[in-house]
Amino acid sequence: MKTFSEAARMEASALMERYPTRMAALIPIMFIAQREFGHIDEEAEKVIAELMDISPVSVREVSGFYFMIHKHPPGKYHLQICHNISCTIMAAEKLLTWVKDELGIEDGQRTGDALFSLERVECLGACDLAPVMLVNETLYTNLTLEKFTRIIDALKNGKIPED
Ligand code: FES
Repeated sequence: MKTFSEAARMEASALMERYPTRMAALIPIMFIAQREFGHIDEEAEKVIAELMDISPVSVREVSGFYFMIHKHPPGKYHLQICHNISCTIMAAEKLLTWVKDELGIEDGQRTGDALFSLERVECLGACDLAPVMLVNETLYTNLTLEKFTRIIDALKNGKIPED
């Protein structure tokens, strides 16, 4: 059974006191849970619900909406490739096809060595720099196949390149 560490529990309690309602603290508490458990599955939803004294369904309603909340264990490098309008116009689909072929995974999957996971996502808010990809918390912009290949190669070698 998953449980929050004492530090995470205290951090979550402080958040619930800071916001006018408990529900307002749900998203930041989900990020704490994601840091603790790696992803938010059904068990994690129950742990969050119990801590916040809300129903697990209330947690599911929010976690199901946001792609930043991982429903499955992500790889060490979680690739989130935008496929919204600007990025699609700028050939994001070609990048997606390439990464699927290169890594041998489909959208929502993780490589066998757990190094990469892939997720096709909605707008990342950087449309003027399309196509874009988020790798964990680093945003890569104006992607070309060449740039994309360099990023993936660097990650395979344990380096996180700057954009
Ligand atoms: S459409 Fe891709 S960042 Fe907005």
